[in-house]
Parts: sequence; structure tokens; C-alpha cells
Amino acid sequence: MCGIVGYIGSRPALPILIDGLRRLEYRGYDSAGVAVLAGRELTVCRSAGKIAALETAIGPAGIPGTLGIGHTRWATHGRPCEENAHPHRSGPFVVVHNGIIENHLALKKRLQGRGYAFSSETDTEVVAVLLHSHYRGDARRALAKTLAEIEGSYALGILCIEEPDRLYAAREGSPLVIGTGAGEQFLASDVPALIAHTREVVYLENGETAVLRAGGIEIADAAGKARQARTRHIPWDPVSAERGGYKHFMLKEIHEQPTACLDTFRTRVSQEKGSVILDDEVGLTPKIMAGIRRVRLLACGTSWHAGLVGEHYLERLAGLPAEVDLASEFRYREAPAEDGVLTVAISQSGETADTRAAFLEGGSSGGFRLAVCNVLGSSIAREADGVLYTHAGPEISVASTKAFTSQLTALYLLALFLGQERGRLSRAEVAKHLADLVRLPALIGRALALDRPMSDLAQRFAKSRDCLYLGRGMNFPVALEGALKLKEISYVHAEGYAGGEMKHGPIALIDSELPVVVLAPRDGSFSKMYGNLEEVKARRGIVIAFTDRAGKDLHAKADHLFTVPRTNPFLAPILLAVPLQLFAYHVAEARGHDVDQPRNLAKSVTVE
Ligand code: BG6
Repeated sequence: MCGIVGYIGSRPALPILIDGLRRLEYRGYDSAGVAVLAGRELTVCRSAGKIAALETAIGPAGIPGTLGIGHTRWATHGRPCEENAHPHRSGPFVVVHNGIIENHLALKKRLQGRGYAFSSETDTEVVAVLLHSHYRGDARRALAKTLAEIEGSYALGILCIEEPDRLYAAREGSPLVIGTGAGEQFLASDVPALIAHTREVVYLENGETAVLRAGGIEIADAAGKARQARTRHIPWDPVSAERGGYKHFMLKEIHEQPTACLDTFRTRVSQEKGSVILDDEVGLTPKIMAGIRRVRLLACGTSWHAGLVGEHYLERLAGLPAEVDLASEFRYREAPAEDGVLTVAISQSGETADTRAAFLEGGSSGGFRLAVCNVLGSSIAREADGVLYTHAGPEISVASTKAFTSQLTALYLLALFLGQERGRLSRAEVAKHLADLVRLPALIGRALALDRPMSDLAQRFAKSRDCLYLGRGMNFPVALEGALKLKEISYVHAEGYAGGEMKHGPIALIDSELPVVVLAPRDGSFSKMYGNLEEVKARRGIVIAFTDRAGKDLHAKADHLFTVPRTNPFLAPILLAVPLQLFAYHVAEARGHDVDQPRNLAKSVTVE
């Protein structure tokens, strides 16, 4: 997935474009480029690599002009290089694009047959050439004809040299937001690129196009019919999208988890009444809840791990059968349609293509569709029947941390609410759970005190080739998440396994070189987990144990033992996740990796 930006106004466009691209770099960072118009004078500059490389290519003189577009790339079609970097130009048109033009090969062949030349391997260049081929002096008409021919997903930013007083935009599938200002307009794939300039935004819907002029914006639907631009106010302050003195966004976001957790439950808990209050935005009315027979959770990556914990919450607290599906698998599974299914899509960005498609698919049986998202106004949130927002604030680092623990907080609230409303949980039981929840932010704060010990531990294991993570019950998904964090940013081969599964395979990996992370809180599965720990020791594996109450037994067997604060078994996964995030962070740091922008990854993948 790529990041696109645009600006039209009276200020020099280049610094605004570069700043916007830097804030979107988490979306893709293998090449970048800008195009700036000064009157009818067009300058395009592109380079392979990160924004810093583009700035070097541009040079200290900069580029004059108050109208421009920019792009940072995550390659899908055509290898990362200058020729394949955006913007792409054909005739008077210059285009930046996020998404995939699925019929680009057929269109390219036809256009080449008509004598048009191509200089890149990308699907995007076809859009520029199509615009050129349809242009008869009216760019808006050329755009309409082009959109009628292309298939796939796109967020487009388009300049036409012959119309130097406007910027065109179009959206189908990939996210696109317009920021409105006094005498200037901004275009971006995501809010962090424009909140330094405005917090009044307009989200483009699927099939819509927009014309941005310094003085205002015009939006038209797929049929070309004009529509009112409804602005939304973004509550995030620009500073929240900064690193705030931390070396990396990931470390900052790990340390923001007490606030993220608190903000996620603060308006949804009434301790006086001992009840959970979910507002209209969530949309779970008594009538809808009465019809729920089962819950299906859909997600990808870290959000899928949150779903696996949520499954336990829903079954044990709400008494509802639940299943968790990998969105990329579910969408091709042809599960029989069924009444009474509450479909929950979990997505930090609200833009992950597989989750969106599975959500649409999953909801096709007519059940209520609830989104658990972090980004306000994101596509999945807007396409849902109800939204339960996590309030973690902007998550910039590619590896998800505070969104994970906020998702667990939100799923805990959802399960308590359903349990409360379905009469499964008594008021006293709900009150007890809420008392534990209200104490959680402070406990997360105490778990963050493991930052230093995790840094020391990371020094010890920074050269490890492999690492195994073991957990049971609600902590099995935390073992998966710990392994994913280590894989994502330190590139160490790590696997998460259910403790009981170890003897059916991964135990073969164990030798005196292999660090084995064991999650052993003193809950109902402790004795079984301790048995696994002994099996690892028996094969001379290196045990790194995390618990909520140490003791002679663990001290005797664990090579490294760390304690997180004690809470109820439902919330223990949140506290156990914290040191695993820190460990992965410090191993990646010790290995000198780019923690916030790990290789080959992107913050959310908006293409299939
Ligand atoms: C991946 C990110 O691309 O998408 C992960 O690198 C994330 O961190 C996953 O968990 C799912 O993203 P989202 O936004 O749908 O939760």
C-alpha cells in the first residue's frame, strides 16, 4: 500500500508534500516522488528509497510552485526503482496512485497498439496514458472516461498542466481524505499527513471524484452528481503524530498503552451503576442483541491475535459461541449463510483489504456487522452497521502495539456488555470486572517498568536465529503476538505455539541454543504450563518465563524470570503482551534495524 498527498493553495507546495509523505512513510517506503506546478511549469522528481533520498534528489534549491502531488511507494507491480516510482506522466497529465489497476495489462496492450509509449512496469502508468488518450481540452471529462475503463482499487491524485488552478482526485476502494483550509486544500491517503495543517477533513466515498481549488472543493458521485462536502473534525492533535522524544514511534506507542487503554474504556464504564455503556455508534440495540446466536470475528495480523483472545471473552463472559477467522481465508471459504451471526471486523487502520472484503462477505447473511477500529472514519468503520472505536490515537509504527492492547480492552467491554444485556452476568460480576479494568492502566504502567530488563535480555539474545513462544488459553494468542513482533521487526524466525501443542512437533526444535518464552501466569492452566516448561528444560532449552507471581518452582526452572502485575485472567494477556513488545523492540534495536519501518512490511495492506 502506498501513500499519496496533494496540495493547492498559496504556500510553496514542496515542503507540505514532503512533510506529508514523511508522515505517511509507514505505508510504504521503497521509492518516492513529487510533481509541482508553477503556472504551466511542471517539475517532477522521483527516487528509489526513502523520503530522505528524494529530498537529496531534489536538492537544496527545492521546486517552485503552489500546486503539487506526491507519493511514497510499496511496490505491487514493478520492482522498486526510479522508473517505477510515482508520479507517472503522459501528455499533460501527472498521476499518483495507491491501489491496483487489475485490468492494466489489457489496457496497456490496447494503448500501445494505438502508439502510446510506456516507460515503467507499473499498473499506474496506464491511468496517465488513458487520461492522455481521452483528453480533448477538458480534464474532468477525460477523468470520467478513464474511470469508466479501469477496474480495481485506486486512490488517485491528478494534475493537468493545462488546468494549473486545480487538483483532481478519485477513489475506489483505497482510502482518500481531503483536508480543508482557508484558501488552501490538502489531499492524503491518511489523516496524519494533514493534521499539522487542518483538522477539518472530508472523506471521499467509493466511486467519488473531487476537484480541489485553492478556494474550495467540489465532490461528485460515480454518476457525476455533485454532493455536499461533509467535514469531520479530527480530535487528534498534531503532536500525537510526532515521536515525542522517543527514539522510535514503536517505543512511544508501547509507553502510551496506559492512556490508550484508559481512553478506550473511559466513557463506556459506569462504576456507580456497575455497568458497561456502549453508545449509539456501536448500535447494539436490545432488538439486535436478542437476535444474536453466534459471533464471527474477522481480522488479519495482530488484529487476528486480538480476535483469538476476544473469542474467549465472548464465550466465557457473554456465553456466545464464537469463531475467529483469518480474513484472507474466510473470504474464499463459502461458509453457509446463517441467521443470528454478529460479524465483528477488527482492524486498527480500518483499511486492510482482506478484512474489508471478508466483512462484506461475512455480513452477506444479513446479521449485524460491528467494526472494532482505531482510525476514525476509516472504510471498514463507515461500511459497518455499528462501530466500537478503540481510542489508541494514531499508531504510526508498522508493528502494532497499543492498538492490540486497546483492541483487547474493547473486546472485553463488548463481551461484558453482551453478558450484562443477555443476563449472563450479574450486576455484581460486571462490577467486579469493571473494577479490575479501571485498575488496568496503572498496572500497564508497572509492566512498562520491564523496559530496562527487556533491553538487557535483548542484548543476551540479539544474535539468536530462532525463538519459540508458548502460551495456553487466552495467552496462546499472546505467544503468537510475541512471536509476530519479533519476526516483524528483528527478522528472527520465531513461532508461537499453544503449550499443549509443543510435544506434537516444535519440541524437536529445542536444544541448548533455543530461547523459549513461556507465558505462565498463575491461572487455571499454570500447572500444565509448568509441565511444558519442565519439558523444555529437560531438553536443555533456555527458558525465559513471564508470570504474575514468581515462586520457588519458577525460580528453580527458569533461566530468566520476569513478573508482570497480577490481575484477573481475562486481562492478564494485556499485561503479558507489554514485555514481549519491549523484548522484540530491543532485539530489533540491538540488531540495528529500522524499527518503525521494517523491511517488506506496511502499516496496513489495502491491496489483496
Ligand atoms: C499489517 C501490519 O500490514 O496489517 C500489522 O503490519 C497489522 O501490524 C495488520 O496487524 C492488520 O492491520 P489492521 O489495520 O487491519 O489491524
